[in-house]
Amino acid sequence: MTRTRLTTVDDVPENGSYLFTVRERDGTEEEVVLVRCRDGESEITAWRNFCQHEIDQRLDRGFGAAVREGEIVCPKHGSMFDTCTGYCDNGKAAESYLSGVDVAVDGDVIYLTDSAVEFAHEGGIDDDDDGGPSSTSHLTF
Ligand code: FES
Repeated sequence: MTRTRLTTVDDVPENGSYLFTVRERDGTEEEVVLVRCRDGESEITAWRNFCQHEIDQRLDRGFGAAVREGEIVCPKHGSMFDTCTGYCDNGKAAESYLSGVDVAVDGDVIYLTDSAVEFAHEGGIDDDDDGGPSSTSHLTF
């Protein structure tokens, strides 16, 4: 089994998330958030970064998902998803599960172990600009 090093447990905030991007089998990119599962000492779970009520609603909009007492709070209508199971029993997204991605913690390091996806890059999809200056003549530094 191949595994890809993602980051360390310390990089996953208690009340937030760590955002990265994977490539799905069909080549599309998908954002994933790492969060702390409350039931585990350093247990980490990973969920595709969209709400089950409206799939175009990101949970982490680029500055960390809102995590409160072991639940990820959707920023739009406030449904809360268990960080360990991905399950939601409340609000507009009630009776749904977030879409999970397999990760493993080995020591202090978090690895992507899901054979259905491959690591693309840290951060969100929009953070993957080709990095060069814009095509206009405006100076940048
Ligand atoms: S979009 Fe998340 S609860 Fe409505």
